[in-house]
Amino acid sequence: MYDEYIIGLPMVLFPVVRGMYKLRSNLGGIDVKYAVVTGTSRGLGRSIAMFFLEAGIHVIGISRNQSKYLTKIAGDYNVSYQDYLCDLSDINQMDKLFEQISKKIYEQEPEAVYLVNNAAMLEPIGQASIQTSTQVSRHIHVNTIAPMVLTNLFLKKGSETDIPLVGLIITSGAAERPIYGWSAYCSSKASMNMYVKTVALEQNHLQTKHKIIAFSPGVMDTNMQEKIRGTSQDMFKDVETFRGYKANNQLSNTDIVGSVIVDIMSDEGTIENGKIYDISDYI
Ligand SMILES: NC(=O)c1ccc[n+]([C@@H]2O[C@H](COP(=O)([O-])OP(=O)(O)OC[C@H]3O[C@@H](n4cnc5c(N)ncnc54)[C@H](OP(=O)(O)O)[C@@H]3O)[C@@H](O)[C@H]2O)c1
Repeated sequence: MYDEYIIGLPMVLFPVVRGMYKLRSNLGGIDVKYAVVTGTSRGLGRSIAMFFLEAGIHVIGISRNQSKYLTKIAGDYNVSYQDYLCDLSDINQMDKLFEQISKKIYEQEPEAVYLVNNAAMLEPIGQASIQTSTQVSRHIHVNTIAPMVLTNLFLKKGSETDIPLVGLIITSGAAERPIYGWSAYCSSKASMNMYVKTVALEQNHLQTKHKIIAFSPGVMDTNMQEKIRGTSQDMFKDVETFRGYKANNQLSNTDIVGSVIVDIMSDEGTIENGKIYDISDYI
């Protein structure tokens, strides 16, 4: 299914695809590299994981549901894919799992480690005064606490072992502008942008090899967009605009976006620490 998308790409996307092939050839050889990606059961996370696997990089995925598709891709490319099932809103589950995963990876002394914090939720949707503390707490755990805790831990392990980390957090245009009904989402994504800038500043100051960036993927055709289109106008004033994106074919394919992300991350030498990358600069 995914190869069909690539073969059928319009010419304007050729530089992106060429980048993918450059990445694959750069990564030849026997060096072991690991990528940890959250939210691999569907959407953008699944596409990102797929391109890491195709580049010969072992992948660990974290979601509440498995991805049989990625296990199959890993087999085709002779690398490993492992699903770790976890609800990222549950801090106890999360802490134990992150320790377990980081131990497994760093024990093997890989040449490099890539970390993509992609899993996120949009809910609660609706103006701020109707949101419950449970909804807000769950949202902040998944969108803010999990990416910070995971990145902090991998920075620690990377510094102890001197293994370079390239960490990326998926952000959103909603981090930059207020949207009626999305107070939690706009806030959590904005906080991730500032986290990335602050941690990058620290790592530059400490003169480590670690790179931490954010990436804004634009609107993509995923479950999250389906949920947005299903919201009532009372709760979300811009719902018609988002219905229009689907009707007018303006939602990107996650494979195109995923290939750009893996390409940026694999070219460590050119990464600008702390930068908020944006898909509009690539396609
Ligand atoms: N789609 C867009 O237009 C758009 C635009 C801008 C930014 N983004 C950002 O892009 C990223 C990917 O979005 P998407 O559209 O691919 O979303 P999606 O289709 O809703 O997929 C979300 C992924 O996150 C995982 N996830 C959600 N809640 C989780 C939890 N509590 N614990 C563990 N995993 C959880 C889901 O897995 P399980 O359900 O199996 O747990 C799923 O794999 C997100 O950071 C999103 O904010 C999306």
